[in-house]
Amino acid sequence: MINMASSQLNENIDRGQWTGRIGFILAAAGSAIGLGNIWRFPYSVAEGGGGLFVIIYLFFVLVIGLPVLLAELSLGRASQRNPVGAFKAMIPGKFWPYVGGLGVLTGGGILAFYSVIAGWTLGYLGKSVSGTLSQAVDGESSGQIFSSFVADPTWPVILSGIFLLITFFVVRGGVAKGIERATTLLMPALFVLLLALAVRALTLPNGMEGLIYLFTPDWSKLSLNVVMGALGQALFSLSLGMGAMITYGSYASKKENLWKSGIFIATADTGIALLAGLIIFPTLFFASADPQAGPGLVFVVLPTIFNQMPFGSVVAMAFFSLLGIAALTSTVSLLEVVVSYFVDEKGWSRHTASITIAGACFLLAIPSALAFGASPQLSGGDDSILPFGLDFLSLNNNIWGNYSLSIGAFLICVGVAWFWGIPKFLSALEDGHSQIFPMPGRQIVGLLVKIICPLAVLTVLIFIIATGNYF
Ligand code: PFF
Repeated sequence: MINMASSQLNENIDRGQWTGRIGFILAAAGSAIGLGNIWRFPYSVAEGGGGLFVIIYLFFVLVIGLPVLLAELSLGRASQRNPVGAFKAMIPGKFWPYVGGLGVLTGGGILAFYSVIAGWTLGYLGKSVSGTLSQAVDGESSGQIFSSFVADPTWPVILSGIFLLITFFVVRGGVAKGIERATTLLMPALFVLLLALAVRALTLPNGMEGLIYLFTPDWSKLSLNVVMGALGQALFSLSLGMGAMITYGSYASKKENLWKSGIFIATADTGIALLAGLIIFPTLFFASADPQAGPGLVFVVLPTIFNQMPFGSVVAMAFFSLLGIAALTSTVSLLEVVVSYFVDEKGWSRHTASITIAGACFLLAIPSALAFGASPQLSGGDDSILPFGLDFLSLNNNIWGNYSLSIGAFLICVGVAWFWGIPKFLSALEDGHSQIFPMPGRQIVGLLVKIICPLAVLTVLIFIIATGNYF
């Protein structure tokens, strides 16, 4: 009863809408493009056998990412609700709102470690301003600067708090013209800068070796972990499996052509990840840094290339500012998922919801911020109390960023295809745009969402569980 009353009460709340087509597409692309492309993708490639990982990742983007993206956007726009409300409104049955609930929980789980890495970008911005980064002349010196920065017990915590505070201010402002305007200006700037860095990286001595590494599969590395990692990365990078695209779709008007928007978002996101690879790997071979450097890879490798460029410190400042902004447009979407749930379903004010959740995520972020030396118990070494030899951040990254998103994507496909129904899904996707699909396109998308995606995700998960190769 209470729930019904509160959702009726909120029926008339002005939830906000994107002001225009560009605003919607860029906000969604802004959610997708972030640390996942520039921080997580390169080190996942390094851990997953170079080109081998890239091939599996691209396959998953096409066969699973794009269909799930279309499913989420359609569910969101048709229901005009947060993930829990969207399932409640469109799919009968008590079970389905819990799928939205898992998404809301995952949003908080990801935000709690993502904000730590986002805080590192602020720290590196500070280092490029103060000149400390100019001492990072090769893999070794750069590695030392990084290790001492992340092992500090205070700065990483403070910086993740600052990042969450900025995220709070943006989200509190609503589906703001602010985000739209900022993304419209800054995403193209990020792209141009990345392109320039890629040209520089590829022309470094040994640059081509990096290119070869990125595109040559090392089949001996093929394992379930690599497949799982590539699946998780495809979903993580496109912000899928937890309802971020349901939420962003819910602010989209009938005028949007979701099919075109989906293709644009997926292409831009994948293009930026590959571009990041074209920068990192040539530089890595040039700087003789360790390709297995894990979460520190980007922070260790990139400063060495900046020091090889004219006006390197200016480029470093520009790069870390833009990386911070790319991260911000993603943290905003993570927080927005959780906030929209509390606003729509629980009747909280946007202000209360955003400050409470950002605050809770800050507390949850602290152990991740201490997981690189400040607390040996959380750092995955000999004194660690954590399983699988992983540090606290990487463990969370795997649990929320791979497993939870995969389970979420599986359930979203099953809900949309088998319980909402493919005909309703396709007409919601095409709403206001008659016959945007040529005929085989419709059938292919239907088949992917109904059979191929759920089956593929389930197969990977079953194999992982059966063989116990969790991480
Ligand atoms: N897609 C973002 C990135 O690549 O950095 C991360 C992310 C944002 C994941 C929002 C999930 C999400 F809902």
